Amino acid sequence: MKVVVSLGGSLISLDKPEYIKEVAELIKKISEDIPLYVVVGGGKLARNYISTARKFCNDERYLDEIGILATRLNAMLINSFLRKKIPKTIEEASKMAPPVIMGGTTPGHSTDAVAAMLAKEIKATRLVIATDVDGIYDKDPKKYKDAKKLDKIHIKELRKLAGEEWKKAGESVIIDAIACKIIDEEKIETFVVNGKNLEELEKAIYGKKFNGTIVEIK
Ligand code: UTP
Repeated sequence: MKVVVSLGGSLISLDKPEYIKEVAELIKKISEDIPLYVVVGGGKLARNYISTARKFCNDERYLDEIGILATRLNAMLINSFLRKKIPKTIEEASKMAPPVIMGGTTPGHSTDAVAAMLAKEIKATRLVIATDVDGIYDKDPKKYKDAKKLDKIHIKELRKLAGEEWKKAGESVIIDAIACKIIDEEKIETFVVNGKNLEELEKAIYGKKFNGTIVEIK
């Protein structure tokens, strides 16, 4: 069993070192049992840098590069506990002995897409998207109080929600269009879970019954 986790950047905050410690310890513990690959997002750090840089520059590739550096900085934070080399490409990551912790790779997509590309490359058993809400909702739960969590959603439906292409640097969607396309084409089992809840995250990684959303691929 090989598992790729996309650890949303929204989960990583310098104000919450306790969570960073706990999630890193969980990664370390699970890694002793199964090959684990973790792709860390840029979160607030990426968004803050990108929005300030956008005032002076409209080159989306350049803004993406800033975002990538933020993802790698967050990856380094989680990696403080493992102290492994952080790969910069999918190829490099796939050749390394797990556990692997990494951030982004190249402009034009999010770390969810990096996680999907890696899952494809290493033929992972499953992809776990760890975010800061309890799963995928019928509408944005941060904006609408009556948003309902979906226990499952078909990948074709999710692709409609995600749109067709990559939007702008730092822009957030549930799972970006590029990641959705890979999940659909490669039929990668995908679970979406609240990464703040480490018990549920662990269950999702092991493929046990968990509280979140299952992306149907069949
Ligand atoms: P994230 O993966 O954190 O993007 O990368 P996001 O969609 O904002 O993340 P969450 O899940 O909502 O927290 C931050 C930014 O870095 C660039 C993009 O601009 C992205 O928006 N990036 C990241 C890349 O261009 N390539 C990568 O491989 C990764």
